[in-house]
Amino acid sequence: MLKHDIQAMEVIHLGPEQINACMELNQLALNGLWSKQQWIQELIDSRSLCMGVLKSSTLLALACGWLVVDELHLTAIGVHPQHRRQGLARLLLSKLLEQGQRTGAIHATLEVARNNSAARGLYESCGFKTAGCRHHYYSNGQDALIQWLSLGKQAEPRQKI
Ligand SMILES: CC(C)(COP(=O)(O)OP(=O)(O)OC[C@H]1O[C@@H](n2cnc3c(N)ncnc32)[C@H](O)[C@@H]1OP(=O)(O)O)[C@@H](O)C(=O)NCCC(=O)NCCS
Repeated sequence: MLKHDIQAMEVIHLGPEQINACMELNQLALNGLWSKQQWIQELIDSRSLCMGVLKSSTLLALACGWLVVDELHLTAIGVHPQHRRQGLARLLLSKLLEQGQRTGAIHATLEVARNNSAARGLYESCGFKTAGCRHHYYSNGQDALIQWLSLGKQAEPRQKI
């Protein structure tokens, strides 16, 4: 079971009208990953796919990706700190992967810091495998682990629903 009341939540496509909510989660969950201008670009670009989990009109989680030929490149995923470990990221990621697959992706890929155990656990639970390493990729010297998922053989996410 999702620990949230699933009835009260909806997974939506994010557009420019959600810019303020995205900026809020950008600070709360993503450590200010992108500027407002970058978010606007992300939310309007037709190659980008951004989805979020709404509960009572509040954005609790967001995930974004880019379709590059037949690959879905995941660029961001974040969950409000007070709503973590309740299955929201897994729910959202599975919806984003489904949507990516519908729009032509046969693989999904992303990079994750070696020390980000929460995110690594999430990706592993959705079937991603580590396919390589970019040493000292991040500004703090952390390695980036390249994650790869074949959507044709996508493992069923271990849903709690
Ligand atoms: C990573 C993040 C998105 C996970 O969101 P979440 O909603 O808490 O994740 P879920 O509840 O869907 O968890 C799914 C699985 O991920 C793993 N996981 C999640 N949080 C974890 C943690 N703190 N420690 C270890 N594993 C964790 C578990 O395998 C979990 O499954 P389980 O609960 O059945 O054991 C969230 O911690 C976050 O927003 N972090 C900051 C932003 C970030 O690092 N984004 C990723 C950048 S690559």
